[in-house]
Amino acid sequence: MRFPAGFPITLIGLAAQAPLSPTNPPEPAPAAMAAQQDFTFKDSASIFSPLNLVELSRPGTGQANGVGDLALVPVSRYSLKDKKDYKSIFIVPIESTVQPLEIPLASGGEAFWLDDRTVGHAVDQGEGKDKVKALYAHSVKFDTDSPIALGLPDSPKLVGKFPTATAGNFKLSAEANVLVFSDYVHADGDLKKAKEHDEAWENRGDSAFVYDETFERHWDTWVGPKRSSLFSVPLTRAPDGTWSLGSEFTNLLNGTGHHCPVEPFGGTEDFDVSATHVVYTAKDPKLPAAMHTKQNIYIVDVHGQSKPRELTSGKQGATHSPVFSVQGDRAAWTELDKDGAEADRAKIVIYDLKKDVRYTLTQHWDRSPEALAFSQDGKLIYFTAGDIARIKVFVLPVPPTPAESTTDPDLPAEYRTPVALTSSGAASGAQPLSAGRLLFTRSSLTSPNDVFVLRGLEHLDVRAPATFTPDVQQLTRFAADALEEKSLVEGEDFWFEGAEGKRVHGWLLKPPGFKEGEKKKWPIVMLIHGGPQGAWEDQWSTRWNPNIFANQGYFTIAINPTGSTSFGQEFTDAITEDWGGKPFVDLRKGWDYILEHYPEVDPDRAVAAGASYGGYAINWIQGHPEFGFGFKALVCHDGVFSTTYNGYSTDELFFFNHEWGGLPWEPKVKAIIAKFDPMNFVSNWSTPQLVIHGSKDYRLPETDGIGAFHALQERGVPSRLVIFPDENHWVLNPRNSLKWHYEVFRWFDKFV
Ligand SMILES: *[C@@H]1O[C@H](CO)[C@@H](O)[C@H](O)[C@H]1NC(C)=O
Ligand SMILES: *[C@@H]1O[C@H](CO)[C@@H](O)[C@H](O)[C@H]1NC(C)=O
Repeated sequence: MRFPAGFPITLIGLAAQAPLSPTNPPEPAPAAMAAQQDFTFKDSASIFSPLNLVELSRPGTGQANGVGDLALVPVSRYSLKDKKDYKSIFIVPIESTVQPLEIPLASGGEAFWLDDRTVGHAVDQGEGKDKVKALYAHSVKFDTDSPIALGLPDSPKLVGKFPTATAGNFKLSAEANVLVFSDYVHADGDLKKAKEHDEAWENRGDSAFVYDETFERHWDTWVGPKRSSLFSVPLTRAPDGTWSLGSEFTNLLNGTGHHCPVEPFGGTEDFDVSATHVVYTAKDPKLPAAMHTKQNIYIVDVHGQSKPRELTSGKQGATHSPVFSVQGDRAAWTELDKDGAEADRAKIVIYDLKKDVRYTLTQHWDRSPEALAFSQDGKLIYFTAGDIARIKVFVLPVPPTPAESTTDPDLPAEYRTPVALTSSGAASGAQPLSAGRLLFTRSSLTSPNDVFVLRGLEHLDVRAPATFTPDVQQLTRFAADALEEKSLVEGEDFWFEGAEGKRVHGWLLKPPGFKEGEKKKWPIVMLIHGGPQGAWEDQWSTRWNPNIFANQGYFTIAINPTGSTSFGQEFTDAITEDWGGKPFVDLRKGWDYILEHYPEVDPDRAVAAGASYGGYAINWIQGHPEFGFGFKALVCHDGVFSTTYNGYSTDELFFFNHEWGGLPWEPKVKAIIAKFDPMNFVSNWSTPQLVIHGSKDYRLPETDGIGAFHALQERGVPSRLVIFPDENHWVLNPRNSLKWHYEVFRWFDKFV
């Protein structure tokens, strides 16, 4: 399973920019909530409180038009007062100082470029059974000589309608005059019949779901009769500038058993379009879905005139991020070696479509490339990758195609070592533009996403990268006003010697007002990340935001123990079959490091919190008082209570089988899970603990939270259970998020 932000992680407890959240939760107004509160957040003009986090703008990723002079950025902003999510797109000039233009989207929807001066906007229209997606064209006027340089001269024009309301992930092939998109269809693959079949399904007379194979449910959804597929439909522009959508919707994957985007997180990064073809990733249709990660790359004619052809060798595991070169002569994607593993090292694979030769580019680079993009001339390939708790943009020249397919071509040095173009924050959406420019989006521990342009790439000599100084300009400041008076603190890196003498990294965030050398007085919180193959990165989060903890007055530490990503594959792999082992040596040594170096911290007012694997860690710490952390209170969010049962109850069985080295009934596996099962150490549980769980969490079903709560209650340990019936592995609804923060900080406050 894979996340939009590029975390290849199953049990993840943190994430980047949360997707747009559902609105209108059935919750009392803030005032009514306040009346029943026995705790209030620390709040002032300078404190960045959970209320601020919930209401702060949530910008998505910038997308430039073809000529590269304007970028489009989706932004959503929740209002607690109005109980409403406000959605907009911003049109941002890349080469001028003209202020960005906000286009409010009253009914939400998805926006993309139709051409250099036209934004396509797909939005729901109609009610109930009649609801469909309609596509509109907004023409943008951009003229720096005019008094109003940037504006919308006309009202939006209807381009056409889709047969359903679920069409999404639009990508245009201007040369082929088609729009490619994804939608959900029943077994016959016919998009025009989808609604008719929906109605028959809804009126089937009972509410049962029946399964003969996995996935029966996935992430937060019971799998129904519909699956995702890719479609193409004619989209043309008349000489007078009028856009129109055709009425023939071709299912490009019909009859293949392929589903793209790959659920539950796949989107536009799962396929790409050229003037003639679509390249996409799909799970291998021959393998049971819950037990395998193998995804193949296929290419298909953009009009659906031919059947898809596989480009992968067949020997790989998962594949992600397929892209074409602008010339359409090459495809590239990232590929993992082992089926079943999802946090294995990803490598870039290039496929020369003219020579039918496939070769691996980053075979010897100890990092995992994520999203890829060819430069406009096809000579370079840009990509993002996690590197020491940052997500950086890298570049490599594309080597000449070898004579035959190979996973380890003999490449000169300049093709082997990627050059980092950024050094801080978490980058996404790298998009090469003309004239040596690159657009990208970046967040950090102190800011949500903003859009940046990097210039001067025509001077980059990959043989002497040190001579190149990237010229980076920030184009947007979406949260600057809201954050201006807030005391957001920079994360500070710290390093210490962990298990087996390895150097281990952590972040520390001092609470605002912290003064070195002052008399000891700050409570301390340790945050433990999920995955376990994930990392605390220099990245904004709307759910586990270290700055929120620091701003509530806690000295905040976020350690990247054994199993964390971005520090090399050996470190990531070392947690396999050792969940309760090395990571806790690391956490304990990191803890010692902090107590030793920061006498301002009060170890008698220490607490810890974690989600997912981080929640496992909390339950594991409960059972092991010998670790001696001395935590006064714990918070476990959607954490593992029983590793034994998890091998059967989780949705993605491949994850368990990989982590524990086999199937859950094998004697060797049973011995390891028993050794590291928090449930087997309940007789030691004694620390006050808050247990939070989402009922729609099918990754770690809610019985794990309930089991932990019952254990605490039967042992007479102060404990509280908070259930979110409508949340999955993550708390996404803004008002639920506020309640989450309220319960967490109230709990800590009671004990420290
Ligand atoms: C899908 O392919 C089958 C033949 O394999 C064909 O009968 C059917 O009409 C096709 N459906 C669509 C929607 O293209
Ligand atoms: C309880 O913790 C002790 C150490 O304090 C450990 O030796 C023991 O194995 C644990 N036992 C159980 C059953 O949890």
